[in-house]
Amino acid sequence: MSSVGKCVVVRTQWPPLSRVFTTIAATRQITAAEQRTSEPKPVSEVPGPRVYPLLGCLPSIIFDKSFSSNKLHLYFKKMIEIHGPIIKLTAPFTLPMICITNPYDAENLVRATMDASLRQGFDSLKMIRLQTADSYFEGKTGIMTENGEEWWRVRSRVQPFMMRVKEVVAYLPVMDQISLEFMDRIASLQSQFGEMPSDFLNEMYKWALESVGSVALNRRLGCLDPNIAPDSEPIRLIRLVNQLFTSLTEVEFGPHLWKVFPTPAFRKLKKTHQEFLEIADKNIRETEAALLAQEPSDDRELTLMEGLLLKPGLSRKDVVTLILDMLFAGVDTTSHTLSFVMYLLARHPEVQIKVQEEIDTVLGDHEGPLTHHHLAKLHYLKAVVKESMRLLPTVMGIARTLDKELVISGYLIPKGVCNIHLIINHTVLSFTKVIIVSPKTAMVSDGSYHANGFGRITFPSSEGVPAGALDERQAPGSHSSLLLISLRRWHQDVRRSTHRGTGDVHLPLGGRGTSSFQRANCTTSLLVMSTATRRMMVSVLWRPPALSRGFATTAATHQVAAAEQRISEPKPVYEVPGPRVFPFLGTLPSMIFDKTFRVNAPHLYLLKMMKTYGPIFKFVLPFMPPAVVVANPYDTEALVRATMNNPVRDGFESYKKIRRDAADNYFENKTGLLTENGEEWWRVRSRVQPLMMRIKEVVAYLPVMDQITLDFMDRIASLQSQFGEMPSDFQNELYKWALESIGSVTLNRRLGCLDPNIAPDSEPLRLIKLVNQLFTSLNDAEFSAHIWMYFPTPAFKKLQKTHQEFLEIADKNIRETEAALLAQEPSDDRELTLMEGLLLKPGLSRKDVVTLMLDMIFGGIDTTSNSLGFVLYLLARNSEVQTRLQEEVDTVLGDHKGPLTPHHLANLHYLKAVVKESMRLYPTFLGTGRTLDKELVISGYLIPKGWQVMVMGTLMGRDEAFFPRAEEFLPERWMRDRPLGPIHPFSAVPFGIGTRMCIGRRIAEQEMYIFLTRVMQRFTVDYKYEDLEIMCRLMFSSASPLKFSFTERR
Ligand code: HEM
Repeated sequence: MSSVGKCVVVRTQWPPLSRVFTTIAATRQITAAEQRTSEPKPVSEVPGPRVYPLLGCLPSIIFDKSFSSNKLHLYFKKMIEIHGPIIKLTAPFTLPMICITNPYDAENLVRATMDASLRQGFDSLKMIRLQTADSYFEGKTGIMTENGEEWWRVRSRVQPFMMRVKEVVAYLPVMDQISLEFMDRIASLQSQFGEMPSDFLNEMYKWALESVGSVALNRRLGCLDPNIAPDSEPIRLIRLVNQLFTSLTEVEFGPHLWKVFPTPAFRKLKKTHQEFLEIADKNIRETEAALLAQEPSDDRELTLMEGLLLKPGLSRKDVVTLILDMLFAGVDTTSHTLSFVMYLLARHPEVQIKVQEEIDTVLGDHEGPLTHHHLAKLHYLKAVVKESMRLLPTVMGIARTLDKELVISGYLIPKGVCNIHLIINHTVLSFTKVIIVSPKTAMVSDGSYHANGFGRITFPSSEGVPAGALDERQAPGSHSSLLLISLRRWHQDVRRSTHRGTGDVHLPLGGRGTSSFQRANCTTSLLVMSTATRRMMVSVLWRPPALSRGFATTAATHQVAAAEQRISEPKPVYEVPGPRVFPFLGTLPSMIFDKTFRVNAPHLYLLKMMKTYGPIFKFVLPFMPPAVVVANPYDTEALVRATMNNPVRDGFESYKKIRRDAADNYFENKTGLLTENGEEWWRVRSRVQPLMMRIKEVVAYLPVMDQITLDFMDRIASLQSQFGEMPSDFQNELYKWALESIGSVTLNRRLGCLDPNIAPDSEPLRLIKLVNQLFTSLNDAEFSAHIWMYFPTPAFKKLQKTHQEFLEIADKNIRETEAALLAQEPSDDRELTLMEGLLLKPGLSRKDVVTLMLDMIFGGIDTTSNSLGFVLYLLARNSEVQTRLQEEVDTVLGDHKGPLTPHHLANLHYLKAVVKESMRLYPTFLGTGRTLDKELVISGYLIPKGWQVMVMGTLMGRDEAFFPRAEEFLPERWMRDRPLGPIHPFSAVPFGIGTRMCIGRRIAEQEMYIFLTRVMQRFTVDYKYEDLEIMCRLMFSSASPLKFSFTERR
């Protein structure tokens, strides 16, 4: 607690221009997250270049100055600068494209397409394979082009061979040898030409084909022979692969007329593919023959091809097609990537020296082949690869086609309709962004960017996922195991090159054969490739977090593990870590006998559990559905999506029972928003939501709330002059303010709570006491054995009695309001009050309205006042923050004398940041929960239907992984430019989650904003005592007296 007391100020600065882009995306995402609670906008509103009839955006694209078919990324860059991070592009005969450029949307997309990962965009290749003579491909076109069941049939069988480190490591020696030979080739070229020749990229292609060939075909192809003939098969293969990429781009990015008749570009692609197929097929046959000719031996490990051929469920043609795809995707990708790495090293000699030093340290005097032990230690080298791929990624973006509609950045992107998919289907592209050059950032980014692992999309098809893949859909040959192999090779190459000393290298890269790179001083070449996907990066690059980062990185590490698990079967729920589960008693004994456990402070125990078990752990209490607790935004988001349509929240069973059993069936068998689930909950929620959540409706109560707060300021001044500080029951004064405020909305009148002479047994004060008591009794009933389900325990009877008294007073007041409203003269000018609006709403009965009012009074007193107690405390303890807040209030209000206006509130940005930051450190509730109506995989575990998933915002808020300097009070972190880094929208959820988040949120926020504005306008708050103790009885409150001092500012 004491660290919170430290006074910390972070000055908000304009972000460097390079960061503005990221920030826009993040801000936009927050807005998008907020929008999710309201109606999403139609896809037609997604911004983008002008759309022409029939031609779509095509004219806007091709007549744009920045457009060049060889530099498409420049056009996209411009579009994103103009239209923002989500844009729509349409062209005739192609799918409309929604291009997304921020990690949040990418993550969103990954989750939505996890089970059906449809990638379109190779339709021409698919068509060609389907039309191949003699049905060569037997109607199955391979994992690059297939989708759905057929894709999964092959992918699921191939994956273990290509993605497991163990399998890939088997090729380390041969790759090492290939790299050694290539180093000799470089040395020879260097001495021959004094630099690399202008077709050096071609040399790299040879190296890449030799490497991928050693895996796919299990033999050396001889590409590195200096006398290899230009018309030899390997060299022709390389040319054909280059040509395939060029033709495929032309065919796929141009109008899809080839779907109607074979255009010249299509015919060229077909011819190239046929030639490629013939050579590759011949080589595959040769390998097969050689393997068959070998003596059987038990000692020998199976080669990749053998393993695949023996795999049940894969035909020989499946294997051949996969190997074709490996050869196709394994040449240009890795060699281009490595060229970029070399270029960047050449341009950053200090980085190059550091890599060399690391290599020298790790390899020492080692002479033999590289081992994976060496690779594991080359941390900086891995950071260099990451950083290079961030800056100069190999692939511009990747696409998924939606099989169901999806809200992205607040837009509803419709799902594809198969038979007319050319027009209606929507593809979502994830693009790369380029930010800063520094391998240091790549290293740091493991720690600082993992607030959203999707932040570093360098190879967008895969980098998107937190240390995982964009999804299950990466091509294993081209983008996965091969890349791992390449990555490993890299280290070897580095070593060799380092050992050979330094020389000038001219890298003629960028366009085929054109020399756009300049002469630079670098070590002899670093020939490595790596379009490595994050998934592969995980296996190679991920290190356990440094101890110093301990808690901070638990979540991220966990997330990485979770992402890895997604590629295999999810683990059963009983493997979720957690304290010992006893028969009948579940984890209860482990909890109550734990040193940290205190009835009034369960958060301390939960915090310990998170430190012990990570951000997902089991929590099984008798009489309650078994639960897993999650404390990371990724699982939270997954939960929100999975429960969007049916957000079941259990945990108020006692309350529900009391309402069900109420005398004379008062509640007509319907127990209200807080306690109902399913259809009945939605019946009420859907009708109430527009009236309670729309700013327009809530703003109508601004003047009365403002007046109440002004009255309360006078009360504070009077208490201050009377006692020299606030009395020890100041919390009670805050309750009065809160009831007066929420009463003005629900009951549409002033209750007189702020009258200094109000009698202790007056109705308002009794209401306050009853609500306090309700929370305590509810806590006792719910967090004890649910024996009250069978007979009324004392705790239950107390709750029942309290609820009955509360009901009587509230009901009486509601009746009085109703009567007063009825007595009013009808008038056209008058806006309807909330109660009137609700009473007139079709589909809501009078009892529904009464029940809601009860819940609003119940939910509207302790919540806002406890939260404000914490804000005041944090302001008192952080005087710079308080000063800055006062300055903002002074600037926004100026000399304004009248009531606050919506315009004022809209401009109080820092004030809102203060509230958010305070609720992060001191949330009102521990968290919330959802009971699953279908099974759900989170963090790699299959959580069965019927289990509860509890989202612990309290724990997330204090996790360095999501909030750097988590223990400090730094409202600046929430400001628009996010000076402390992006914030995952699901890492702070004080008002709950998804479609069932707090329905009083807007009202509560408005109340709190008004309160703080008026306090800061008039007073400076101070707190002269020990650090505040907090307690938690269903909700957090202060255990210490809130004896603030308020000094008049003027
Ligand atoms: C600082 C103030 C408040 C906080 C932090 C807060 C927090 C919450 C949370 C966490 C939930 C559970 C949401 C979920 O399960 O995802 C909730 C639900 C609810 N809150 Fe609030 N609340 C606040 C103020 C209010 C106020 C002022 C009202 C009344 C106007 C209110 C009425 C309700 C109701 C009726 C629900 C149940 C909604 C449903 O299940 O559909 N809350 N609140």
